[in-house]
Amino acid sequence: MTSLMSHKFSVLFVCLGNICRSPTAEGVFRQKVIEAGLAQDILIDSAGTSAYHIGEPPDIRSQAEAKRQGYDLATIRSRKVTLPDYDKFDLLIAMDKANLRDLKAINSSVYNDKLKLFLADFAPHLSAKEVPDPYYGGEKGFTEVVHLIELASDGLLDFIKKQF
Ligand code: 4NP
Repeated sequence: MTSLMSHKFSVLFVCLGNICRSPTAEGVFRQKVIEAGLAQDILIDSAGTSAYHIGEPPDIRSQAEAKRQGYDLATIRSRKVTLPDYDKFDLLIAMDKANLRDLKAINSSVYNDKLKLFLADFAPHLSAKEVPDPYYGGEKGFTEVVHLIELASDGLLDFIKKQF
C-alpha cells in the first residue's frame, strides 16, 4: 500500500536556509532508512525557518559533498516551515539552537515535545551540540556537516525503531 498515510513515523529536518544542513540531513537519513528497509514506514522532509532560498535546490557545495559520500540531494527544493508542519510531523529536528528558538517562536509551546536538537538529542555522546552553519565557510565545513549528520542519523533511526 502506497497511500500517503501509510507511514508510521515522520520527521522534518530544519535549518535556516534549507539549502545546506537540513537537505543534507534529509538525504543522509533517507539513505539510511532505505538501507534499513523502512522507506515505506518513515516520512522524511526538510524545511527552513527563513524564506531566503525558497524554491532553490541545495547549495552546490552541499550537493557535491553529499554526492562524494554517496547521497543524492538533487531533487530537494527549499521551502519554509509552515504551521501545519507542527501537526503533520512527529518530530521537527533543528540543526542548531537558533533554529530551535525560531521553531518555538513560529508556533506555540504546546509543541515543545516534538522539537528536538539533532546532535544533542540523538548523538549526545558527541561534544558538538549543534551542526555548524557551513554557508559562509570553506569546504571543510561541508564535510564536517555530513559527518555529524551521519552520526546523529544513526541515533535517530535507533530511536524511531523503538517507537514501532
Ligand atoms: P543552512 O545554511 O541553514 O544550513 O541552509 C544557510 C543557508 C543560507 C543562509 C544561511 C545559512 N543565508 O543567510 O542565506
